Amino acid sequence: MNAPMMQGLELGTPSYVKNAKLIAWVADMVALCKPAAIHWCDGSKEEYDALCQQLVDAGTFKKLNPAKRPGSFLAWSDPSDVARVEDRTYICSEKKEDAGPTNNWAAPAEMRATLNSLFDGCMRGRTMYVVPFSMGPLGSNIAHIGIELSDSPYVAVNMRIMTRMGKAVYDVIGVNGDFVPCVHTVGAPLAAGEKDVSWPCNKTKYIVHYPETREIWSYGSGYGGNALLGKKCFALRIASTMGRDQGWLAEHMLILGVTNPQGKKYHVAAAFPSACGKTNFAMLIPPAGFDGWKVTTIGDDIAWIKPQADGTLRAINPEAGYFGVAPGTNTLTNPNCMASLDKDVIYTNVALTDDGDVWWEGMSDAPAHAIDWQGKEWTPQIAKETGAKAAHPNARFTVAATNNPALDSAWDDAAGVKIDAFLFGGRRSTTVPLVTEARNWTEGVYMAATMGSETTAAAFGQQGVVRRDPFAMLPFMGYNMSDYFQHWLNLGNKLTAAGAKQPKIFTTNWFRKGQDGKFIWPGYGENMRVLKWMIDRIEGQAAGVEHAFGISPNYEELNWTGLNFSKEQFTNVTSMDKAAWVAELKLHEELFTQLAYHLPVELTSAKAALEKRLAA
Ligand code: GTP
Ligand code: SPV
Ligand code: MN
Repeated sequence: MNAPMMQGLELGTPSYVKNAKLIAWVADMVALCKPAAIHWCDGSKEEYDALCQQLVDAGTFKKLNPAKRPGSFLAWSDPSDVARVEDRTYICSEKKEDAGPTNNWAAPAEMRATLNSLFDGCMRGRTMYVVPFSMGPLGSNIAHIGIELSDSPYVAVNMRIMTRMGKAVYDVIGVNGDFVPCVHTVGAPLAAGEKDVSWPCNKTKYIVHYPETREIWSYGSGYGGNALLGKKCFALRIASTMGRDQGWLAEHMLILGVTNPQGKKYHVAAAFPSACGKTNFAMLIPPAGFDGWKVTTIGDDIAWIKPQADGTLRAINPEAGYFGVAPGTNTLTNPNCMASLDKDVIYTNVALTDDGDVWWEGMSDAPAHAIDWQGKEWTPQIAKETGAKAAHPNARFTVAATNNPALDSAWDDAAGVKIDAFLFGGRRSTTVPLVTEARNWTEGVYMAATMGSETTAAAFGQQGVVRRDPFAMLPFMGYNMSDYFQHWLNLGNKLTAAGAKQPKIFTTNWFRKGQDGKFIWPGYGENMRVLKWMIDRIEGQAAGVEHAFGISPNYEELNWTGLNFSKEQFTNVTSMDKAAWVAELKLHEELFTQLAYHLPVELTSAKAALEKRLAA
């Protein structure tokens, strides 16, 4: 094959790359970004090792002590580049209404002009990595292909863990096959002879999606969802629009399997906002009193869910790895996760201990001395005096799913798993009870649509303020939120029309706090007690108590073996305060006012019915 010449730089297209659209696009992007070199990633272990070594040599990675964390590295980002930037994230649909009031929008032509000037020469002095990846099992008819062009080798190695990355992708797209083009730059061109920094990035940031043409352009950040474009940008924002057009769902949901002692298996898909417990729940180990129960992980962050001809829903995890929150993770809260982190991990923004290992708040007893995520001396005394954190609150690990001891045997199955229940859960210190079942699909959609949650360090900005986070999708919705609610309602109707029973819908809140400011519910593995109640409900084995908003458990209906949790404590996490709910419904009202355009009337009616029940 001829290697086209662009600006004197040979594309060096490998012979196995035959896709015409891809070759033309890479040539265009090379002409625009003007990199010094191109590296076509093949996804091999040798390539991964070489890139990691290159990152070590560049000072981006520190190799961790191979006796403690074999095959593992630590990266510290620029202190200004530590989380997703929601205020810099755009959905550039042709019509503003199609992005809807919850998204930043700019006219595509205008945004293209802005980005064209920013991207012009943005990769000078750097290598452009061509990263081919499949979201979902390679070649499966529910999977979709993306190609990310990035000037960050950190992105290339992370993408190899997070996706099915490598040259086999080129066989899938062949000569004419489709893919989602994703272009990413840290926005830090290097002049001739200029020395690089360990974490290049730019103060200016743009995370841009063109839903109609299914393109992603990301500028200025090297961190997480801003830069690993297969994850939130593709698998949620672009995929949600694909799902709207093609009749399926792309959701911010973990998927787990739960098997009872009789060997019957159920699958639950659960949407919790960022840093609200998906990874934890997906890897749950049943506590004492649950002998013979088993929980297995299909996914920890994203689910692609497709209705079948028989009205059932089948879900796959489009990812191949976990980009999970480190702080708070330990052998008590998430033993499976800790076991996953023994080897072959990329850590970002955790602390480095004196013996070449990692540490973060909530991992174990604090070390006497460490280097914090900003490269500064850290001791418990310094922390006490200055409040300095050893790890950034949004510090994360990147690890292959295959490291997880609780990985479900069907995690890689192209057919996906059948979903029996949906679960939506926000982080609320007050008001919202531990668990509530919706009486029907519409009420469930209402609960998900009006979910509130306290913001976390997963995104740049203020923390701990309650905001509406419909379906835990507020930062990830690729189109108009009200149209999305309608899409969910339509899907529910489609399932019954096909003769199937709709999955039950529940909401949970693990985060209610007592007078002392502490969480009342023990959470983590103890969440199994609530999961079991949901299964009992599916099986018709728990009556529950009906209240204004749905059905919640009686104290006696939960298995309390092995846990001291009094009836009074239970009341504290399940009680419904009428005044608080009147105030809460005002916030639903505000949301519905914001989303008035195309808001399904079913949801307005559901709200009126709830208000009537509450007043009664
Ligand atoms: P993203 O990767 O941002 O989408 O987050 P996630 O939803 O996977 O959250 P994760 O499981 O990583 O948990 C984030 C934080 O919540 C950690 O600090 C956990 O310790 C804490 N957490 C998780 N589950 C529970 C729980 O049941 N109770 C309490 N109190 N905290 C929890
Ligand atoms: C989230 O914020 O929900 C994450 C982390 O899963 S990131 O990939 O950075 O979006
Ligand atoms: Mn997430």
